[in-house]
Amino acid sequence: MSGPRPSSTNAPSPTATTFALRPARLEDVGELETLIAVSARILLAPWYSPAQVDAAVGSVFAVDTQLIEDGTYFVAAQDPTIVGCGGWSRRRTLFGADRGHTSDAASVLDPARDPARIRAFFVHPACVRRGIAAALMRLCEQAAADAGFKTMELVATLAGEPLYAASGFAAVEHFEIPLVGTLAMAVVRMRKDIATQS
Ligand SMILES: CC(C)(COP(=O)(O)OP(=O)(O)OC[C@H]1O[C@@H](n2cnc3c(N)ncnc32)[C@H](O)[C@@H]1OP(=O)(O)O)[C@@H](O)C(=O)NCCC(=O)NCCS
Repeated sequence: MSGPRPSSTNAPSPTATTFALRPARLEDVGELETLIAVSARILLAPWYSPAQVDAAVGSVFAVDTQLIEDGTYFVAAQDPTIVGCGGWSRRRTLFGADRGHTSDAASVLDPARDPARIRAFFVHPACVRRGIAAALMRLCEQAAADAGFKTMELVATLAGEPLYAASGFAAVEHFEIPLVGTLAMAVVRMRKDIATQS
């Protein structure tokens, strides 16, 4: 699994254009939580207030370790640094951390009837627009297709919507995710039919 590729420093290189994709491991969780917080705080600033982002980091924007255990969450690495992450899921949950999921949320979907979930795409601000998220999406779509799914669904931030539109998803519903107190976050539910291989 590889794409345009990495360097070997501890911070994302502003010039490196290469990276490698691999399944996420449980020992990556700390680094992933840091990446997600940095990505959200910087890249979502044009769309949401600092209070909204602070309330969402760690709950809405977080690692779901169930996906790592399922082998359906992936990282893009500029070895040894993780610069992007994203995954898919065969479980009902649409977004958020593993903390607080109900057993129904973790229940397994029927590939013949239900859309696979696309989950938690985040790229380091120093590494955007290099095709990292698009490469992760291609990997997820192929894996979901291999598992028999015919459609995919996700809940996008307003910042993520252009990525998913470019990947062939269409908006089906605009709604708000309640955060703490009176805070809420506008998001978009999006869906895509998986291309059938001939
Ligand atoms: C959304 C995000 C994951 C995109 O990652 P990325 O690696 O920069 O995306 P890619 O380089 O693979 O982009 C692929 C295509 O998507 C579209 N796209 C991606 N980011 C875009 C943006 N900010 N504005 C407009 N189009 C965008 C473009 O068509 C792009 O192709 P191009 O660069 O050739 O024009 C990244 O900006 C991010 O982490 N945002 C903050 C977290 C977030 O909102 N994640 C979504 C959670 S649902």
